[in-house]
Formats: sequence, structure tokens, C-alpha cells
Amino acid sequence: MENQFIIKGGTPLNGEVVVGGAKNSALGIIAAAIMTDETVTIDNLPDVRDINVLLEAIEDIGATVIRENEHRVKINGSTINDITIAYDAIKKIRASYYLLGALLGKYKRANVALPGGCDIGSRPIDQHLKGFRALGATANVEFGMVNTYAVDLIGSHIYLDVVSVGATINIMLAACLAKGRTVIENAAKEPHIVDVANFLNSMGANIKGAGTDKIRINGVFKLHASEYSIVPDMIEAGTFMVAAAATKGDVLIKNVIPKHLEAISVKLIEIGAKVEEYDDAVRVYSDKRLGHTQIKTLPYPGFPTDMQPQIATLLALSEGTSTVTESIFENRFKYVDELARMGSTIKVEGNVAIIEGVAGFTGAAITAPDLRAGAALVIAGLVANGFTTVDSIKYIERGYENFEKKLTGLGASIEKIPVDDEEAVQKFKLKCS
Ligand code: UD1
Repeated sequence: MENQFIIKGGTPLNGEVVVGGAKNSALGIIAAAIMTDETVTIDNLPDVRDINVLLEAIEDIGATVIRENEHRVKINGSTINDITIAYDAIKKIRASYYLLGALLGKYKRANVALPGGCDIGSRPIDQHLKGFRALGATANVEFGMVNTYAVDLIGSHIYLDVVSVGATINIMLAACLAKGRTVIENAAKEPHIVDVANFLNSMGANIKGAGTDKIRINGVFKLHASEYSIVPDMIEAGTFMVAAAATKGDVLIKNVIPKHLEAISVKLIEIGAKVEEYDDAVRVYSDKRLGHTQIKTLPYPGFPTDMQPQIATLLALSEGTSTVTESIFENRFKYVDELARMGSTIKVEGNVAIIEGVAGFTGAAITAPDLRAGAALVIAGLVANGFTTVDSIKYIERGYENFEKKLTGLGASIEKIPVDDEEAVQKFKLKCS
């Protein structure tokens, strides 16, 4: 049965919230974990749909997966007996492509269905394939599958034509077990690239320079057991930062790496919110309507595309005219029509959203078009006057663990109820009155 969120807006968020492990790190790390025949323990795993689908996919090909609790898993790749990942197993997640790099590195061959994922624009994987080919593999797309094969993987010098998180991680995975030295130039620098590299190094890989645009990998013969804890999720943290500012609240967001949040903090401060940084927490508060700004999404350390819908929602409520330029994905403004139904004034021209701030939103029945846009619409509902329902929350659940519970803990009125359950709606409304 499909669920939806029902929200009564208007309550400032107040209190403390703890951020979970980074979903995008975890996806790379789970794939990396099958590259050794020894047992790997991963901690601070986010309990979200994308992660659970990937764990099922590696179980399907024979890996042993023991979920010790929702945030800790043991993986053993020695029992893998198949190198083909079918579409049914992974159609819901894009990062299934990491299994290409992981299986190719370990077994020198892999067949993985072309990934799905959020529909935020065309998402080619040519740079991944270019990297595999540079390492000496064949890589072809046939009948919806990506098939790769190598007699031997040989280290190589690879220059990425576009800065790609996925291609950087995928090539890093395969190159770890290649013969000799690989250099990835124009590599992506996102914190989760550093996290996956640290994890691989903890398994005996030899990777240097992750977090810069030049990553150097000396291939090793094999990888070994490791115990590793995933870094905090910067996008979950950023989402709560924006939610705190949008609701004119005061929230201490714990278990974060403030450095990863700088691009978000700087923009919030620029428009008038208060941001205090601690060792592993940030406090965001505001008691007034915020101002306007210009934002352009860029690879890290620029403003993250995964925070674009959330910040645009905040700017839609701020004073004056803002512009948000999306330079990574071309189809990431689909939430704008939903926001318009709540009273926003946003015009999209090409990859630029021109936002005329309005004084407030009013509640409406809206639908989440994708993961981050879904989170943005929940923020809109938290601010709106009256009741909002957000449908298609399966997207939000791909990347946010206990989103509604964490928001309730901050004083929000939000509940997960079945779609079309009029009785549940009435009960919620009664509770809020
Ligand atoms: C990752 C993140 C996603 C985030 C995105 C950008 C994961 C699982 N997902 O996605 O949440 O929004 O980074 O920060 O970590 N491109 C090519 N050819 C390629 C690969 C990419 O042209 O072979 C282009 C894409 O179309 C896009 C840009 O490069 O315009 C960046 O994409 P990329 O960094 O690869 O995004 P993902 O790894 O898919």
C-alpha cells in the first residue's frame, strides 16, 4: 500500500536531530565490500531503501549479508557465484553501477543492467565505460545490460571529460585490483569519494589523492577484512538546516562534518540565517523572513545539486528575487509546478529558476517527483498555512531514514498515513486542532 505524508504547517522546528550515515557513501562502500573474500563490517549504515535494494542485489548474486542491526551490516563476498545483476534487482537504484567496477576489479567480468534511479535528467555512463576501457576491459551496452570483461586489468592514465562522482568511484573500484598504477584526472572531490577511498584503503588498497582532482591508485593483488564507519550524510544535514531556516526555527543538527556543509552554511548566512558550527554539529536558527541570493549548483565544494530543490523552496519564501542555476542535471525543476500549487512564484527558463519570493505558502495536495525534490516539498508543507499531503513518498524514503519521525522530534506536525485513508486524515486533523 502506498503511503503519504500529511503535514500541518506553521510550527517552527526546534530541538536536536541526529544525522545518519551518508547514503551515497554507503552505496559505494557496499559495492567495495564484495571485492574481498574476507568479512567486512560496515557501521553507521543508513536504513533507507536504496541501501536495502543494493544489499539485496549483492545477496542475489551469492554474497553473505548479515544485518546485525539497522545500522550495521557484515558482508562476505567469498560466496558470490554470479556476476550478472538483472534489471529487476536494481531498477530502483542508480548506484547499482558500482557493482560493475567492483565485480570487474575482482572477477574481471561483470554484467549489470543499465541503472534507473531518480528521473532528474539524462544520466549517461560513458565516463564509467571510458575508464573501464582505459584499464583494458571491453565494455558494451547490449539488450539493456552493461557487459564488461578483461583478461587483465592494467593501470592507466584517465582524464574524465566531465566531473562525475559515479565514474570516479567506479574507476577507483576497478583500478584497486588492476596491475600497476592508475591516475584519474579531473576526478570528482565529493566527501563520499574520500569515504569510499578510505574504506578501500582500510581493506588494503593503495589510493592517494581522493578529495582532490587527481587520484592515484597503485593496484594491489587482493583486499582484506575491515571494519568501517560511514561518514555523516551532508545532504540529510543540509535538508534539516534549510528546514530550520524555512520554519524560522532553531535546530542543532548533530553528527555532521561542518566542513562538508560549508557551501550550504555560506548561503544560509548570506540570506540572513544564523549558523553556528561546532566540532560535529551545526546550529541553524532564524526568527525572520530571509533575503534573496543567486545560487549555482556545482561539483563539490560548490553548492550541491542534491540541495537545489530545498534551498529553492526556502528562497521561494524569502524577500526579493533569487535565481537558482542547475548546472549538473537538466531536469531538476519538476517540483516547481507542485510548489506553484502552494502559492510560490517561480519561472523556469532553461536551467535557471527565477524565484520571486512570496510571504507564505498555503497547504495543498502535492506529489514528490524525486528524492530531493520530495524533501523540499515536505519543507514547503512544514511552512505552509494549513494542511499539506505529499504523495509518492517512496522517493523520499530512498534517501531519508525516519524523516517524519525526526521532524516530529523537532516539533513538526507530520505523519505517514496510507494514501486515500480519509479516516487517517480526519484523525490527524483532529489531533492538530
Ligand atoms: C551522484 C550522486 C547524486 C548527485 C550527483 C551529483 C550517488 C549515488 N549519486 O550521482 O546524488 O546528485 O552525484 O553530485 O552518489 N555524466 C556524464 N557521463 C558519465 C557520468 C556522468 O556525462 O559517464 C554527467 C551527468 O549527466 C551529470 C554530471 O556528469 O550531468 C554529474 O553526474 P555524476 O556526478 O556522475 O552523478 P551520479 O554519480 O550519477
